[in-house]
Amino acid sequence: MASVKSSPHLLSPSPLSACMEVKQDLLANLQSGAVMPIANPIDTASPHQPPTTNLKSEIFAGLSSPSPFLPSLLLWGDNGIRHFNKLTFHPKYYPSRTELAMVKRYAEEFASITPAGSVLLELGCGSLHKTSIILSAFDRLRRPISYYALDVSEAELHASIQRLRQDFAHSKFVSIHGLYGTYDDCAAWLLSLSTSARPRGLPNLAPGQVISFLWIGNSIANMHPPEATAMLSKFHQACSASRLQCRFLIGSDACGEPATVLNAYNSGYQTFTDFILSGLDYANDILGEKIFHPENFRVETEFDRATRLLSVYYVATKRVELVWHDSAGHDSIRRVLEMGERLLIIFSYKWSAEGFARICEDAGMQIARKWTDKEIDYNFYAITSQQSLADRLKRWSTPFDTYILGGVVLSILSISLIGELFFL
Ligand SMILES: C[S@@+](CC[C@H](N)C(=O)[O-])C[C@H]1O[C@@H](n2cnc3c(N)ncnc32)[C@H](O)[C@@H]1O
Repeated sequence: MASVKSSPHLLSPSPLSACMEVKQDLLANLQSGAVMPIANPIDTASPHQPPTTNLKSEIFAGLSSPSPFLPSLLLWGDNGIRHFNKLTFHPKYYPSRTELAMVKRYAEEFASITPAGSVLLELGCGSLHKTSIILSAFDRLRRPISYYALDVSEAELHASIQRLRQDFAHSKFVSIHGLYGTYDDCAAWLLSLSTSARPRGLPNLAPGQVISFLWIGNSIANMHPPEATAMLSKFHQACSASRLQCRFLIGSDACGEPATVLNAYNSGYQTFTDFILSGLDYANDILGEKIFHPENFRVETEFDRATRLLSVYYVATKRVELVWHDSAGHDSIRRVLEMGERLLIIFSYKWSAEGFARICEDAGMQIARKWTDKEIDYNFYAITSQQSLADRLKRWSTPFDTYILGGVVLSILSISLIGELFFL
């Protein structure tokens, strides 16, 4: 599907030196300790793409699919993320505005439910504008936190980490780190903690310690429900294998009102179309050739009320012939888009609270707490593992534990009885 895809070619993390061959500028960042790449490159011939993805083959696969699409990762190139950041401040774009207001209102609650001295790892961190407000709450509450920001948008990640580090340069409570890679890379990296004696980049985490994942901006909803469930389980399982407790704080848009949704996502305003069309330029960068001409496409959005699914398409405004040449200069791929034909670029669900709860339950997790903006119907959910609760209950109900507990109680009773006999 066109959403964020699990890379089929994911390689497990390996020594830093291998990653450093990809880009010279990474070296400087590694030395400064600001951002760490957490996965191996699979296609060094396409230096513009995130390390473990193969966007070139995903583009070709999408174009030849019966329901054609382009990978949504194309929206998160250096230009795309800049356009997205502009969009987040546009008055029409209610998701960011609503989430920002909620973060301002609840930041201290979010900080106080996160154990002091634990790890907070943000998935798809973007500009870190809202994050900075949450981290300030940790600072005000004098609650130590090791914050890790993960993103695939490399230049933006470096820039925003640098800004955040300046903002918190004098903080005694907040430490800041960047991780460059995809969600899948991050889950694989966490899993590697279970086998690696000295895990790279993370503080020595004692068994049982908590990692809280911050996943805001309704980014989880750029996946179909089974994909979202699979991603939550992947993190959950990686943490369990590393004997860490995993929790999530997730921002999720539940607005099912078509007029509100389509007012925010529509081609009638430039900020939105600029963001979406930037994906075609990034596709050309990846392919190393200008095969997409943005002027031959317009942007179209539709919202399906029943499934609560918003879809965003490129629509060919005339008959378009896409031809890509291989390194020998031969026509390697030829695809004709008829006038009006659509390519899906991204989708976003607006799950109800019940729909969201099902996704968590299917991943073996549960909603522990919920904060709602009633005007828009936007939610923040604190999600915990069902297993950890079940484990705790089980621990007190096994015959072995009952015997031990019984033994302790009996010993205390007999000691006090003997004591009383002596004093009588
Ligand atoms: C909708 S934006 C949200 C940004 C930010 N969290 C916010 O709330 O404004 C999605 C972010 O996730 C990042 N992203 C998208 N797909 C990703 C993936 N597969 N792995 C890691 N980051 C990803 C994008 O680069 C972008 O910064």
